[in-house]
Amino acid sequence: MRRSLIMGNWKMNGLRQDAVNLASALAEGLGEVAQEVAVCVPFVYLPDVAQVLASSPIALGAQNVADQASGAYTGEVSAAQLADVGAKYALVGHSERRSYYGDTNQSVANRFAQAQKQGVIPVLCVGETLDEREQGKTFSVVDEQLDAVIDTVGIAAFANAVIAYEPVWAIGTGKTASDEQAQEVHHYIRQRLAERDADIAANLQILYGGSVKPDNAQGLFAQPDIDGGLVGGASLDASGFLKICHSV
Ligand code: 13P
Repeated sequence: MRRSLIMGNWKMNGLRQDAVNLASALAEGLGEVAQEVAVCVPFVYLPDVAQVLASSPIALGAQNVADQASGAYTGEVSAAQLADVGAKYALVGHSERRSYYGDTNQSVANRFAQAQKQGVIPVLCVGETLDEREQGKTFSVVDEQLDAVIDTVGIAAFANAVIAYEPVWAIGTGKTASDEQAQEVHHYIRQRLAERDADIAANLQILYGGSVKPDNAQGLFAQPDIDGGLVGGASLDASGFLKICHSV
């Protein structure tokens, strides 16, 4: 039985006090939940949020991780540094990284590998653009994104990883994939991995991201291959995010 995971991605929003306030509101308001909850916060506020969440079950995540272990890589943050400040998760290959900062399938695979070496669980983001969907390329794009990682780290590495399917056309646009559209791709991803290892595929958490809101979360999370969400905009509002957390 897969445990659900609801993850907030705060992206590049807010200042320190906002981060502390939001984390405090979540820690105080979460109550009893069976699923896991995590927040991916800006690097500089990881220690502050770690402190706020220390006695809460909410886990800490980063939004990226370097593709190298250490050394002369100005501006990057290593997996060891993330582990050192208490990050349990790191997003890799978010579409905003891929499209604005040139993260390639190979660099994403290297980031994934670096995170795992330090015990940080990589959350591999995959998904197609609107153009790619309209050209019928959704599955082939997702294949390429997955294969680059599998070829680099091997299928066994997915025993300790999370995948997030985030159709680019649904991110921050208010356009959500329908329950059926999302389920179709989640099922496809699980099948693809099952061809290599059925157990790993059956146990892998696959999250949906792209305009998840309190009013659409329940339908999405009810799909058999959707194990939770990666929530952007709606995770910046504590009460809305808590509602999403309770939609599982
Ligand atoms: P939105 O929920 O704002 O569409 O963002 C999704 C996302 O990119 C989460 O990583």
